[in-house]
Amino acid sequence: MTKTWLITGTSSGFGKELATIVAKDEDANLIATARNLNDLKYLDQFDQTKIIKSVVDVTNLDEIKKLSDDIKNSFGTVDVLVNNAGIGYFSTIEESDMEQVRYMFDVNVFGLANVTNEILPMMRDQKSGVIINLSSALALTTLPTMGFYSATKYAVEGYSDTLRQEVAKLGIQVMNVEPSGARTEWSGRSSMKSIPKIADYLQFSDSVSSVSDSVHDAPGDPKLIAKVIFDQVTTKKNLPKHLPLGEFAYNGSLSNLKNMVSEIEKNQSISLSTDD
Ligand SMILES: NC(=O)c1ccc[n+]([C@@H]2O[C@H](COP(=O)([O-])OP(=O)(O)OC[C@H]3O[C@@H](n4cnc5c(N)ncnc54)[C@H](OP(=O)(O)O)[C@@H]3O)[C@@H](O)[C@H]2O)c1
Repeated sequence: MTKTWLITGTSSGFGKELATIVAKDEDANLIATARNLNDLKYLDQFDQTKIIKSVVDVTNLDEIKKLSDDIKNSFGTVDVLVNNAGIGYFSTIEESDMEQVRYMFDVNVFGLANVTNEILPMMRDQKSGVIINLSSALALTTLPTMGFYSATKYAVEGYSDTLRQEVAKLGIQVMNVEPSGARTEWSGRSSMKSIPKIADYLQFSDSVSSVSDSVHDAPGDPKLIAKVIFDQVTTKKNLPKHLPLGEFAYNGSLSNLKNMVSEIEKNQSISLSTDD
């Protein structure tokens, strides 16, 4: 049966790689969104009867409403929503520019929620659907200078874990993908940064100033990450709730979660002492 995929942020990185795989698949329709349609020329080589390109800035409610109208007038529905669009921000917490932080929340958290809210009624009507949210390894563990970025992705985790409970009986699944650093534009043109100036934080200056190097040096291969996401959706009946990808995500999340469990257990008597 043909599945219709909607993927946000398909101009580069994971979104572009996943859109390419979906565009090649005989059993899939693709709705690929970007802020600039010129960035989607790479899709011209595939069967255009199965592809819609749409201009969507996830912070723009009018564009998202138009997207949903276009979907209803074409493929009719969405079976797989991939909330991929996102940006980064590198700074110590204290030196972060709150306007830039708020914008990142608008894109990474509220943008994701804006798109999901527009698509959920279609999935509820058909009593099926898959929502894939691009979270991050940094939603399962943390690093200095990535605090507010982590905060957006921890927000995505809390949002997704709750949504999953609310839609479980409606045939809708929600999977969070938590990649480690990967070779995309995320740490380059898709991120803002503020290099530490306060003497107490100068130890972090090098890591912030060299951050765009990870566009080339990060261990994660976006093609492999896109293929894992595609394979999960097309082969698994029950998707994992969390999918950490890469060594940092796997080891970092396990270590962080084990430490958290151990600390919570150690303080059991205190925790249980506050209910009367
Ligand atoms: N790469 C990593 O190391 C890594 C690790 C973990 C998680 N992630 C997450 O993975 C997702 C994809 O990022 P990526 O690594 O593939 O980076 P990327 O190559 O920079 O792709 C980001 C995409 O998001 C789009 N975007 C940015 N702001 C947008 C907005 N306001 N509205 C709509 N689209 C917007 C960009 O479009 P434009 O071309 O218009 O800017 C681009 O298509 C993000 O959510 C990111 O946080 C990345």
